[in-house]
Amino acid sequence: MNATLAPLLDQLKDLAARPLAAASAPPKDLYVLPEICDLEQQRIFAQSWLCAGRADDVAAPGDYMTFELGPQPVIIIRGADGDVYARANVCRHRMMRLVEGRGTSRKFTCPYHAWTYDIAGRLVAAPHMDRTDCFAREDLALATVRCEVFQGWIYVTMSAEIPPVAEQLAELTSLTDRYNQQDYITIFSEEHVWDTNWKCLTENFMESYHLPVAHRSTVGAHYSVEENTFDERGPFAGFTCQFFTKSDGAPVGRAHDDNTSLEGVWRHTSVMPTVFPSHMYVLAPDHLWYLSLQPDGPARTRVRYGAAIAPEKLAGEQDRDAYLATTKAFLDKVQVEDRHVVEGIFNGAASPLGAPGPLSWLERGNHEFAQYLARQLCDH
Ligand code: FES
Ligand SMILES: [Fe+2]
Repeated sequence: MNATLAPLLDQLKDLAARPLAAASAPPKDLYVLPEICDLEQQRIFAQSWLCAGRADDVAAPGDYMTFELGPQPVIIIRGADGDVYARANVCRHRMMRLVEGRGTSRKFTCPYHAWTYDIAGRLVAAPHMDRTDCFAREDLALATVRCEVFQGWIYVTMSAEIPPVAEQLAELTSLTDRYNQQDYITIFSEEHVWDTNWKCLTENFMESYHLPVAHRSTVGAHYSVEENTFDERGPFAGFTCQFFTKSDGAPVGRAHDDNTSLEGVWRHTSVMPTVFPSHMYVLAPDHLWYLSLQPDGPARTRVRYGAAIAPEKLAGEQDRDAYLATTKAFLDKVQVEDRHVVEGIFNGAASPLGAPGPLSWLERGNHEFAQYLARQLCDH
């Protein structure tokens, strides 16, 4: 370990050992030091499943989208057999990036010398290679990247060792299963870059303390912090989760009349899992929205942001276009509010007089996140 990081990691370890009532926010250097960012890349991001989007982002055979998995460009493809695969987005000739963006195709042709791959990643054509003795087409398939679909989410990892997603998130299923979120219909997914550390954004997502204040003109208007409850499992189940209920007058967050699977309080309860390290979503009876984060250095975060709607809710909308436009505009406004605070927090953490203060009971998820970070980053 880098010796200069030792005092900082000791502080993190000490913080993680405290009960919530005695805990403060983590030391500010945790957010700004490039060496921490490198350590996180090795010990967290290279060792975790990261969410690349939703399975219906690539709904039909031949649909594909690109994703940056740390330093590895990836293509996520719906195969001819209906399954979702990931392949390295790197040509087997001289390593050119093969495709950009998203679309539908039966083959991928490299823009450099036109080597062509099918959607299973096999090399099917390579012009002017007939005089090359060492050329063997069958040995030149696109490299495979581990990819699994879990409850409608696509997860990818560079690790060959970590257990399957369903095994890692087995305990989350008991909280999310009842919503049938795999059937929700994606209405948009986008890429953004925010000027903040990824942990500022994760922590912001995990606490509802800011809702009545920073979001007073959007989600804060129908939210009572007193109704916020927490999953009791602690930080080592692979996720943290909290719950909140919506009041009768809330315009969103309640089950549609045609939803026959949710019962009792669950018809107006939302769950908010943070799947470590950086996939977080609000799962409501009628919609979900999500963020999936990756650091781009300590001061920038790549954000995948999207939303999906329960099928019966979407089917019940008379003016579907207007509903989708209103929903997206509302969620975008919430994002603008969050962006303002998480970029502001990062400025504070990078400032000479910035110093972390004590946490509220409503920031329980944040303390669990610090405990997770301590376990991943500190030597045992
Ligand atoms: S690098 Fe792709 S064909 Fe040459
Ligand atoms: Fe927020």
